[in-house]
Amino acid sequence: MVSRKITSVDDLSLKEISSIVNKALRFKKSTNQKKTNKPKNIFNLFLEASTRTTISFELASKKLGHNVINVNFEKSSLSKGETFNDTMDTLISMKPDALIIRDKNNFSPHEIYQKHKIPILNAGDGTNEHPTQALLDLCVIKSIFKDKKIKIGICGDIKHSRVAHSNIKLLSKLNHEIHIIAPNYFLDKKELTKINRKLVFHKSLSKLPKLDVIMMLRVQKERISKNAKSYMNSFKKDFCLNLNHLKNQPYLMHPGPVNRNIEIDSKVLDSYSKSLILRQVDMGVYLRMACLDFILK
Ligand code: NCD
Repeated sequence: MVSRKITSVDDLSLKEISSIVNKALRFKKSTNQKKTNKPKNIFNLFLEASTRTTISFELASKKLGHNVINVNFEKSSLSKGETFNDTMDTLISMKPDALIIRDKNNFSPHEIYQKHKIPILNAGDGTNEHPTQALLDLCVIKSIFKDKKIKIGICGDIKHSRVAHSNIKLLSKLNHEIHIIAPNYFLDKKELTKINRKLVFHKSLSKLPKLDVIMMLRVQKERISKNAKSYMNSFKKDFCLNLNHLKNQPYLMHPGPVNRNIEIDSKVLDSYSKSLILRQVDMGVYLRMACLDFILK
């Protein structure tokens, strides 16, 4: 049997997307989750910082009754100088049933899959993709809007954001209306229009059409090679979301972690009643349960 993977939104058909999302929503509703009587060994390999993603994968695995082995960079031999490929060969020779990986290099989950053909979930690869984040965002959207086609604004450091890339792919596949709000220095318009020719671009948060949802994204300072600080300052001046931008009352999303007062004003974070940020964190657990079920089938 061919091993399953979610290394990109492109790996999934519309039918698979809908089945994963519906399963996550069912997991969220059910009060006593039955554990599997065939526990699998799942390696959770995080080579970049993470709080919500790593914990939600661990919790998801445990709720399903699987064994989860956490490998983090500081404690692995990568920090002693072993190459990435040698570390991967070492881990794979212990025969995990599935691998969850976050890495700073674009496409590394795909490359591991090509070489080892093991069930794999991409938990974020460089600036490329973060498919399980986009799927969980879709679950949250679906739990509010059902099957309505929504108008969503995505604002921030689009160029360096794997969350933006997966979300644009996923929301485009489902024909939602996407508005991109970003300064030129955080945008690669040509690349984005290759994904969807109908994207609408804006240079400011004022004078937007009435949106159902606004998704803010973190300035990826660790991925900006030069003058990250000056980009942060200039972004903050023109694009930090404040209460005036929210007069039309859209729902607010952000994958976290938030840079307070850089992409979202503290007043909004602490008082805006239509914020979905913590709902996204909660949904992450159920969506990741559904993704694990999908690749372990
Ligand atoms: C995102 C990531 O790691 O890409 N975080 C997350 O998984 N919730 C977004 C980010 O770091 O900005």
